[in-house]
Amino acid sequence: MNSSFNLTLAALCCVVVVLGGLPFSSNAQLDNSFYRDTCPNVHSIVREVLRNVSKTDPRILASLMRVHFHDCFVQGCDASILLNTTSTITSEQTAFGNNNSIRGLDVVNQIKTAVENACPNTVSCADILALAAEISSVLAHGPDWKVPLGRRDSLTANLTLANENLPSPAFNLSELKKNFDRQGLDTTDLVALSGAHTIGRGQCRFFVDRLYNFSNTGNPDPTLNTTYLQTLRTICPNGGPGSTLTDLDPTTPDTFDSAYYSNLRIQKGLFESDQVLASTSGADTIAIVNSFNNNQTLFFEAFKASMIKMSKIKVLTGSQGEIRKQCNFVNGNSGLATKVIRESSEDGIVSSY
Ligand code: HEM
Ligand SMILES: *[C@@H]1O[C@H](CO)[C@@H](O)[C@H](O)[C@H]1NC(C)=O
Ligand SMILES: *[C@@H]1O[C@H](CO)[C@@H](O)[C@H](O)[C@H]1NC(C)=O
Ligand SMILES: *[C@@H]1O[C@H](CO)[C@@H](O)[C@H](O)[C@H]1NC(C)=O
Ligand SMILES: *[C@@H]1O[C@H](CO)[C@@H](O)[C@H](O)[C@H]1NC(C)=O
Ligand SMILES: *[C@@H]1O[C@H](CO)[C@@H](O)[C@H](O)[C@H]1NC(C)=O
Ligand SMILES: *[C@@H]1O[C@H](CO)[C@@H](O)[C@H](O)[C@H]1NC(C)=O
Ligand SMILES: *[C@@H]1O[C@H](CO)[C@@H](O)[C@H](O)[C@H]1NC(C)=O
Ligand SMILES: *[C@@H]1O[C@H](CO)[C@@H](O)[C@H](O)[C@H]1NC(C)=O
Repeated sequence: MNSSFNLTLAALCCVVVVLGGLPFSSNAQLDNSFYRDTCPNVHSIVREVLRNVSKTDPRILASLMRVHFHDCFVQGCDASILLNTTSTITSEQTAFGNNNSIRGLDVVNQIKTAVENACPNTVSCADILALAAEISSVLAHGPDWKVPLGRRDSLTANLTLANENLPSPAFNLSELKKNFDRQGLDTTDLVALSGAHTIGRGQCRFFVDRLYNFSNTGNPDPTLNTTYLQTLRTICPNGGPGSTLTDLDPTTPDTFDSAYYSNLRIQKGLFESDQVLASTSGADTIAIVNSFNNNQTLFFEAFKASMIKMSKIKVLTGSQGEIRKQCNFVNGNSGLATKVIRESSEDGIVSSY
């Protein structure tokens, strides 16, 4: 046996000890101060990029909040939504809820570059999405919260699951409740998180059925305010382009406040999935909508709690997954364990000569 083989064997043993020695790595918890020693400025780095970009594109705050949501609802908050299609990955980005709709992925890459410059190979793309969602809330004058960190990035994406799990804007209340329940989120979470529609934009194709031929009745949605109906018909003519944008909150479009709920109370929810929270007869969501409308502090407290809850869905921690170098791709043939197995089997061939 030559010395290089002995060296590799020693390195292999060392790696196995390190991997095996990570205590309880598969059920490690997220931690607010996860990057305290390894990337203490990560929050301010993400904040600076977003503050900068939002000066010319205020909508980016809404867009990134939505990316985090669409990440978490598909195999957990693991940055699977960011993976591009390659020979081994089928991207989630063409799922019905994402295709020509999700935006801000270029800005995520901009953030990742800034973070990598300060702390190489340290901060996961999944954590960047969670941080960007909180910072977006703050920059839009909404609540702040301590973001639990320590997520790792997936090695896979799942387009089928994205099509199954991302809720449709045409969902009724029972469908919405079922969709959130599957993620471990309850009715209060549903009403609080829907409040994110206090910022951002929506395309005509997602609500135009409500304006002209709701549920094939030949009439508009009876739960749509008639004044608002006229406004929306002007913006979205029958048979017109589906991609035209309008504000989700016609009152204060870029400010994170409780106007979403006061809108719902006068039938000014843009999507069916919004209005059903206030207009489904006898529903338990009505009292929650009213309480968030009456008390913005209560809404902010609930929103924070539900965002933290959502941000913990099926996260990868410890030695699971990886820290991607580039958010759109898994690391080259990646994972320390995979590399060790490959190297050791190559050595095995060499040593049999
Ligand atoms: C309850 C079920 C939900 C449904 C059916 C839904 C559906 C939609 C749809 C159809 C759009 C418009 C997209 C477009 O026109 O391209 C949208 C936008 C948005 N959604 Fe939701 N959403 C839901 C829940 C949430 C949650 C939980 C969050 C975050 C916590 C969220 C945050 C946003 C934001 C901020 C926008 C604006 C995005 C932008 O302007 O780029 N939504 N949503
Ligand atoms: C801010 O944006 C400008 C262009 O809009 C860019 O030149 C500059 O590098 C950005 N700064 C940071 C910190 O991202
Ligand atoms: C990933 O795919 C998107 C389109 O979905 C494209 O705009 C982007 O350039 C791709 N990113 C890279 C790094 O190739
Ligand atoms: C996604 O959008 C593109 C247009 O940009 C379209 O050609 C394609 O068919 C859409 N994919 C799906 C799955 O809807
Ligand atoms: C993707 O999601 C589908 C639908 O839930 C599931 O049947 C399938 O096993 C998943 N694929 C992978 C590779 O996880
Ligand atoms: C919601 O839609 C489902 C079908 O997807 C239907 O079975 C159910 O009765 C509807 N619920 C309400 C409250 O309309
Ligand atoms: C509404 O849609 C149904 C089903 O597509 C269609 O038969 C009906 O003619 C439409 N009504 C109007 C007024 O467009
Ligand atoms: C519709 O909106 C107007 C304000 O634009 C409001 O005065 C009215 O009460 C609303 N109608 C309903 C049924 O809520
Ligand atoms: C509003 O909600 C907050 C948070 O739950 C609570 O402390 C406060 O007492 C409420 N205010 C009113 C006027 O009910």
